[in-house]
Amino acid sequence: MARRDPHSYNDDTQAETTRLTLDAHVDFATRTLTATATLHFRAPAEGALDLDTRDLTIEAITDDAGRAVPWTLDTADAALGSRLALTLPARTSTVTIRYRTAPTASALQWLEPAQTSGGVQPFLFSQCQAIHARAVVPVQDTPRLRITYAASLTVPAALTVVMAAAHRGRTVDEAAGTATERWEMPQPIPPYLLAFAVGDLASRDLSPRCRVWAEPAMVEAAAWEFAEVESMITAAEALFGPYDWERFDLLTMPPSFPYGGMENPRLTFLTPTVVVGDRSLVAVVAHELAHSWTGNLVTNANAEHFWLNEGFTVYAERRIVEALEGADVASLHAALGRRELDESLARFASRPELTRLRLDLTGVDPDDAYSLVPYEKGYFFLCAIEAVVGRAAFDTWLRSYLTTFRFGAITTDDFLAHLEAALPGALAKVDAPRWIDGDGIPASAVAPASARLDAVERWTGEVPTVEATAGWSATEWQLYLELVPRPATLATCRALDERFALTAGKNHDVLVTWLGIALGAGDASVLDRVDDVLTTVGRMKYLRPLYTALVAEPRTRPRAHAVFARAGASYHPIARAMVEGLLRDAA
Ligand code: BES
Ligand code: ZN
Repeated sequence: MARRDPHSYNDDTQAETTRLTLDAHVDFATRTLTATATLHFRAPAEGALDLDTRDLTIEAITDDAGRAVPWTLDTADAALGSRLALTLPARTSTVTIRYRTAPTASALQWLEPAQTSGGVQPFLFSQCQAIHARAVVPVQDTPRLRITYAASLTVPAALTVVMAAAHRGRTVDEAAGTATERWEMPQPIPPYLLAFAVGDLASRDLSPRCRVWAEPAMVEAAAWEFAEVESMITAAEALFGPYDWERFDLLTMPPSFPYGGMENPRLTFLTPTVVVGDRSLVAVVAHELAHSWTGNLVTNANAEHFWLNEGFTVYAERRIVEALEGADVASLHAALGRRELDESLARFASRPELTRLRLDLTGVDPDDAYSLVPYEKGYFFLCAIEAVVGRAAFDTWLRSYLTTFRFGAITTDDFLAHLEAALPGALAKVDAPRWIDGDGIPASAVAPASARLDAVERWTGEVPTVEATAGWSATEWQLYLELVPRPATLATCRALDERFALTAGKNHDVLVTWLGIALGAGDASVLDRVDDVLTTVGRMKYLRPLYTALVAEPRTRPRAHAVFARAGASYHPIARAMVEGLLRDAA
């Protein structure tokens, strides 16, 4: 018996699922999916089969012939959920499981109409990465095992279903007042990429292979914001090879979506805060698009190798930005990444083992280990390799890496072996073991450099002039703010806000950085705006620093609890747990 993923009960000596058929009825009144899942095995199997579940109620399990399959459901582990142990009769090629999800399913957020921009219809969405697919469907929930799937979702007829898959049709049952939408996922995916949303949705075509979905009130603004997506795909294909997923659609989520973006294949999910009105945050789209190669084609074998997904994707994202906007802009992004990396390293000072690229996550919930370290340390590691071998050789290797492991799942050792064979000696030159298994970031890391970066850094510790900042992009503003010495003085904050109206800003990356500085300076004039952000947006990247700044100061700590009491119920379950943890630690 061998478990190769610390976050799955999967045993690699047992049958492997290669295909899933899922039929689910979506009930907003009880917040449950009532579903049937059929798992199709690579080859007929017999004996023990362990599946992952979380908060599922299992009703019946049958084999291909309709005979009952014996099963037991273990008590739940807090991080992993419950093992569902089946005993397959001889020569079983499929099992069918009838089950219900829990209203508290960690992969789902059920929104009241008031939590949507339309205000009339409810909304439901899934978020399965890293290990929440098991809260929607009983599966072998490890990225090592890819599946194709067919799904049908039955929903109230007023609503639309979107899935990270290919649409196969919609039928309406007038009498029942329901619609059933059918979907097929032809490309094999790791279970964490299973995704759907249900709501009042409209769409606009951006190009023959790109369509943007959003609530009707948002769709025009979203279409304008993301108008450049086809040129991003073209740039990415020139860098990384053909786009393998046919379509690249975008779904603008309700504001409680806990992430900036999620690379669900064929349908990227995006926080609505990316729709700023000036295209200043479209690098998030470049990032999720880049995952179409790094992450979705070449997938981490488990969360201990998460840097293979995110470090490579940040590298690929910045190459796309460089191709479209130039090396100067890409270096601004890299410099910002380095600042944010240093902040994350500081946050993990008491758990430095989580600042390694390769992690030991036995007994650790991947949601608790999540940070920017795999993103930015991974990025700087790849930059170090590029610097010693040169860009041409690095690009040739990267292409070969993507081709070799296409539709596969790999570990850090697989990456190391492939790189060593293609570019012998490069790993030794950058001292790869220090990057992979060492804490923090090596002093030899490449330092981003550009004229625009110098022009921003020149104002460190000063309030810049209006003329000097006239041409600054949101990235330059954020970088400037990151460089403001902490704690800032109240006088600096007032001078900055009077000159640049930062509190009224619409770009949340810049705004939240600014609000963090002002809170640290004890500037009470931003408190209403902080409340405003915390009650309207559920992206964890914004909740975390604002709550952290509020609880750090005895005078504003009660405010953190008060705003959470009002807004907490509207946060995504994972975001809510994160904020609860912050408030608890501060108490
Ligand atoms: N795949 C991640 C989001 C994620 C990671 C969800 C782990 C759940 C578990 C996505 O691609 C991502 O990295 N999003 C970033 C975007 C940013 C780096 C541009 C985010 O949400 O901030
Ligand atoms: Zn990512």
